[in-house]
Parts: sequence; structure tokens; C-alpha cells
Amino acid sequence: MISKTMEKALNEQINKELFSAYYYYSMAAYLESENFKGMANFMKAQAFEEMGHVVKIFDYVNEQGGRVILQAIEKPKSDYDSPQHVFELAFEHEKYVTSLINDLVKLALTENDFATKAFLDWFITEQVEEEANMDSIVKKFNIVGTNGHGLLMLDDQLGQRTPPTTILSAEEK
Ligand code: FEO
Repeated sequence: MISKTMEKALNEQINKELFSAYYYYSMAAYLESENFKGMANFMKAQAFEEMGHVVKIFDYVNEQGGRVILQAIEKPKSDYDSPQHVFELAFEHEKYVTSLINDLVKLALTENDFATKAFLDWFITEQVEEEANMDSIVKKFNIVGTNGHGLLMLDDQLGQRTPPTTILSAEEK
């Protein structure tokens, strides 16, 4: 069983993960509109992966006898300055998500909720990977700058990301 406080906190995290997916789809929509289809593909894969995070927490709350209550999802930003701007914001967003996961871990420890702490360990590791991926892409943008050829090469490279085939495989990748 989880406490009502933890149940509420995990429900809030479900909302944040849904927002993450929504945000990344919004970024993908912008990239599509600018004809960076490879980058858009990357962001769609990222959005789908976020849905895996949603399902993972959703299932855990239920396993622990809690009740999932969905809230309204915040409207994501839709205007971006450039593809580089998109990935810079994505990197910032992942750092924000890391802070949210860290707060959940602190709460679990405060409550002596070791099961939830163990559950959250997966997310701690996942966030290291998520941040590292975005950081690496932002660094590539910094190298490429506004060079058209470089941007097309980056678009091609990011387009090679294979989206998860199911939400479950996104969760368990
Ligand atoms: Fe669910 Fe990208 O953090």
C-alpha cells in the first residue's frame, strides 16, 4: 500500500509525464512544419517513450492499491525559434523531470516507503540517460550552428531513431 500523500504525488507525476509526451509532440509538430522530418521522428519517438513512463507509474499506483486520478494536461508551447531551440528546451525539460523524480524519492524516504523508492530507482537511471541524450544533441547543434548542410545531416541522424513498437516496450526498453 502507498500513503495518500504518495498516491497524490505519483498522480501528479503521471500528469507531468503526460505533459512531457504532449510537449514533445508539440515540438515534433513544429519540426514537421519546418520540414525537419528526421528530428520530428525523433521527437515522436520521445513522446511515445513518455507514454511508457505514464503506464509504468499508472500500473504501480494500481498495484499498490492506490487510485489513479487524471488531471487536465497543461497546454504545451507551440512556437519555437529553431530546431536548436527545440532541443535546448527538451534538455531543460528533462532536467526539470529529473528534479521531480528526485523530489519523489525524497518523499518516499521521508515516508519510509521503500517499495516506492525501489520503484523510482528505474526512473533515476532513466533520467540519467534522458538528460545525456538531449545534452549530446544540443552539443551537436552547437557545433553545426546555422550551417544548412550540417543541419540536414543532423536531421538524417536523428531520423534514424527507431520508435518503440508498443507502449510496453517503451516502458521496458
Ligand atoms: Fe519521462 Fe523524459 O522523462
